[in-house]
Amino acid sequence: MSNKKRQLKLGAMVHGVGHGWGEWRHPDAQADASVNFSWYKGQAKLAEAAKFDFVFIADSLHIHDKSSPHYLNRFEPLTILSALAATTENIGLVATVTVSYTEPFQVARQLASLDHISGGRAGWNVVTSWLSGTAENHSKSEHPPHAVRYRIAKEHVSVVKGLWDSWEDDAFVRNKQTGEFFTPGKLHTLNHQGEFFSVKGPLNIARSRQGQPLIFQAGTSEDGRNFAAEYSDAIFVHAETFEQSYAYTQDLKKRAIGFGRDANSLSILPGIRPIVGRTQEEVESRYQQAVDLVSIEDAIVALGRPFNDHDFSQYALDAPFPELGELGANSQKGGSDRIKQLAREQNLTLREVALHFSRPRREFVGTPDQVADTIEQWFKGGAADGFIINSLLPDGLQYFTELVVPLLQQRGLFRSEYQGSTLRENFGLAVPVNRYSTELKTLTPTLQVSIAV
Ligand SMILES: Cc1cc2nc3c(=O)[nH]c(=O)nc-3n(C[C@H](O)[C@H](O)[C@H](O)COP(=O)(O)O)c2cc1C
Repeated sequence: MSNKKRQLKLGAMVHGVGHGWGEWRHPDAQADASVNFSWYKGQAKLAEAAKFDFVFIADSLHIHDKSSPHYLNRFEPLTILSALAATTENIGLVATVTVSYTEPFQVARQLASLDHISGGRAGWNVVTSWLSGTAENHSKSEHPPHAVRYRIAKEHVSVVKGLWDSWEDDAFVRNKQTGEFFTPGKLHTLNHQGEFFSVKGPLNIARSRQGQPLIFQAGTSEDGRNFAAEYSDAIFVHAETFEQSYAYTQDLKKRAIGFGRDANSLSILPGIRPIVGRTQEEVESRYQQAVDLVSIEDAIVALGRPFNDHDFSQYALDAPFPELGELGANSQKGGSDRIKQLAREQNLTLREVALHFSRPRREFVGTPDQVADTIEQWFKGGAADGFIINSLLPDGLQYFTELVVPLLQQRGLFRSEYQGSTLRENFGLAVPVNRYSTELKTLTPTLQVSIAV
């Protein structure tokens, strides 16, 4: 893998009417996009035509009347991605699925099904769920604490990966003459008994062409970073500056090496919200359109999100950012810490903090050349292996794919054709050997001899 030229990875966050509270009100926005299959199909087609690595569907499992419009009424990720698998050929399909409110057996089965339906294009964005109200939707009396959620995550993902290896790749012989459907020795039972899960197995579906779906994650806390470094093939991060993203990338790669992994097998993908215009005037007009979509009232509600939807409207807008103590530590720990730290370091008011996090950043706003330059600088400078593209304006993905991607291709940074048809192939990662095949091989005397030589 290290001999191949390093290529940028690009994913599209396909997010219905958007992250914020106001995007659906843009004159050109499709106001029902979050539950409109044609809209999702169109976005996936755009991303695939531009040779993106994957589309990404975010998710959470608790709403209330202050939740953002997309949260209020949206598709379940595995369902929409299964439908998109049938309308696309090459692009990866990454589904967000929580570990805190699911059973590993069910998740393993659903993702393996998507992986088969799509011909090996599935990915799993592992999240631990940060909204405490999620417990009330899942027959649980309390939301597990942050540290426990990451312990659950480790065990859950290990079980899922174990189940995915239930069948060796050549297990199903389907011999009509002999009546042998599968080779008995190639079916393996996991027999897992752990702290949170007890799962016997085997799984009732085989591995796909890519062996196992890719694992995505977005941990920023200490526990989150360690989890991501140990288990993920790709990691999302909200990074505002080159320096922040560089520090995060290098930290995660170092941790991955500490877990005995090749640092190149792990891709760090900052989520960015580019705004592109053909001319400087168009850039400014589009930037202003995006700014106008964020009212201060909405920014205040949005600020509460990483703090378990904390109500910030109770504080004075132009007073110093409130002292919040441990608030946020049990939801998005990394994200809420970052907000508190910025407010403290720069001595900001609540209004300033809210607008800072809701308004588009300037880093990836510009003409196609300017945006491509910044992407190239982050990529070559070790601050990113690729990016997740979020669109603020309704035609954001179209502008990016039509204006910026060709420049990245001309510069030799991004593919002009898919290298393969699985997500793993396009990520340049080898198909993982089934753990049981490995065990058997290490017991084979001839193989032991060849290793000794
Ligand atoms: C680009 C990106 C996308 C994310 N998507 C989701 C999501 O769809 N659902 C979710 O529950 N959390 C999502 N998260 C939040 C992370 O799962 C995680 O909670 C957050 O990064 C805080 O990390 P920590 O728990 O280690 O503090 C996302 C984070 C990033 C950076």
